[in-house]
Amino acid sequence: MSEASRHDAWQAGDNYDLYMGRWSRQIAPRFLDWLDAADQLDWLDVGCGTGALSIAILDRCDPKSLILIDPSEGFLKRARASTADGRATFEVGDAQALPVDTGSKDMIVSGLVLNFVPDKGKALAEMQRVARSRGTVAFYVWDYPGGGVEFMRAFWTAAAALDPHARDLTEDRRFPFCTADGLANLAKSTGLTSVDCIQIEVPTLFKDFEDYWHPFTLGAGPAPGYCSSLGAHARERLREKLYDSLPRGEGGAIPLKARAWAVKGVAG
Ligand SMILES: C[S@@+](CC[C@H](N)C(=O)[O-])C[C@H]1O[C@@H](n2cnc3c(N)ncnc32)[C@H](O)[C@@H]1O
Repeated sequence: MSEASRHDAWQAGDNYDLYMGRWSRQIAPRFLDWLDAADQLDWLDVGCGTGALSIAILDRCDPKSLILIDPSEGFLKRARASTADGRATFEVGDAQALPVDTGSKDMIVSGLVLNFVPDKGKALAEMQRVARSRGTVAFYVWDYPGGGVEFMRAFWTAAAALDPHARDLTEDRRFPFCTADGLANLAKSTGLTSVDCIQIEVPTLFKDFEDYWHPFTLGAGPAPGYCSSLGAHARERLREKLYDSLPRGEGGAIPLKARAWAVKGVAG
């Protein structure tokens, strides 16, 4: 594990949902509307986490089958509980070596995962291997380089002002390829054709400062992992800096936005 990735903690599903799952759940339906898939297809959700994207697939896409794959047993446990559906099955697995038969799926999708996979080219090649001829491979990641995740950007800006080492942990430094061109080029270089890319933006409205801050203290994800690693004094300084710097709306709410890039292409 690299220095920058040491805080990528993916185990506690409840904590992840409070930090990120609640926003991923808002992106997922918009992403699926854009894919506009036919009914009764065989789906695969790579890096399903706690099930944000899979729940939306089951609700909106009338899948014939859906396999949810994630390396984290903790997240899969939570996904199992939230997607109790006869069409869904669950596998522990890695995007770089999918435990799925070749040419067996119509729709291979992945939400907020690709940037965390060490060999992204291999993951996309695997997604194409398991696709049927003319199947769809599609994914979304946050627009990290464009500062698209405002609640995360605010956190790291405050953290880096207090701790110069935090700058190297920020997602914009770690994932510079998460731009429209970077992602489209990556997709094409792995053999996907008819590649298309759009931006999806959702509001991330925190009802008050505690609603914003609490998820960072729970340790699930890179910024919360960093926050949890701080001593009590450093954490309190960070909390105070954020408290003073965040915008406030009506009733003390914190109105921010999060923007993702969604990419789709055709396999084989
Ligand atoms: C930010 S979460 C996204 C979870 C979920 N798809 C969502 O939209 O909420 C990142 C997920 O990627 C998973 N992950 C990390 N490395 C992976 C890999 N090599 N292969 C597959 N999944 C991976 C993590 O376990 C975690 O569930």
